[in-house]
Amino acid sequence: MSMNIAIDGPAGAGKSTIAKRLAKQLGFIYIDTGAMYRAMGYYFAVKKGIDINSEAEVAAACPEVEVTIAYENGEQQVYVNGENLSGVIRTEQAGTMASTVSVYPVVRAKLVESQHKLAENADVIMDGRDIGTVVLPNAQVKIYLTASSATRAKRRYDELKAKGVECSIEEIEKDIIERDYRDMNRETSPLKQAEDAVLVDTSDLDIDEVVEVIFKIYESKKGK
Ligand code: DC
Repeated sequence: MSMNIAIDGPAGAGKSTIAKRLAKQLGFIYIDTGAMYRAMGYYFAVKKGIDINSEAEVAAACPEVEVTIAYENGEQQVYVNGENLSGVIRTEQAGTMASTVSVYPVVRAKLVESQHKLAENADVIMDGRDIGTVVLPNAQVKIYLTASSATRAKRRYDELKAKGVECSIEEIEKDIIERDYRDMNRETSPLKQAEDAVLVDTSDLDIDEVVEVIFKIYESKKGK
């Protein structure tokens, strides 16, 4: 049987950094489901010029969209209808586009089905918002990773600064709070901690410490 690790939590909690590190350490495949929502949101809004605030428009365009992932040099790449969008989806705007389209059941149904298939026959670490609750309810290890919005905003700010992007920490925190609200209050698969998930607050931990905490949780659960 394959081993599945589910990591959920709000924007900027460190999910992808931690999941990537753990995947390497354990020899698992890392699946970033947020990138799939980002690619879909970006495709609709930018490539197709669709009003993504209109559920009807998004639903009408959904059947002709195919989102797939592949790995190049160990890095996940996301393709929409054959085009690699990985290079354009990491912005705050693409995050908001993802959060907007991820509210629609038609979008979720499509992506959840492919995520489910990806984890069926492989040892995976998958991160997102609904992994422990909906996508992989039988995952052997479930983590709910969180941190205060101030800490998360500071981390994003430092990341963007390091890339030379001018930004305001207040704006980033405001965006994060809005995104959390939308992700936690939508009707379909809102972000919440699965009953059997372990809560890990990363506010006062560095990356190595978080990896260590989750590795210990994994060690205690595997083989049970
Ligand atoms: O993890 P991220 O910031 O790349 O995710 C972008 C948005 O996509 C997030 O704000 C909500 C949505 N999302 C989701 O609804 N379900 C997932 N499993 C992953 C992401």
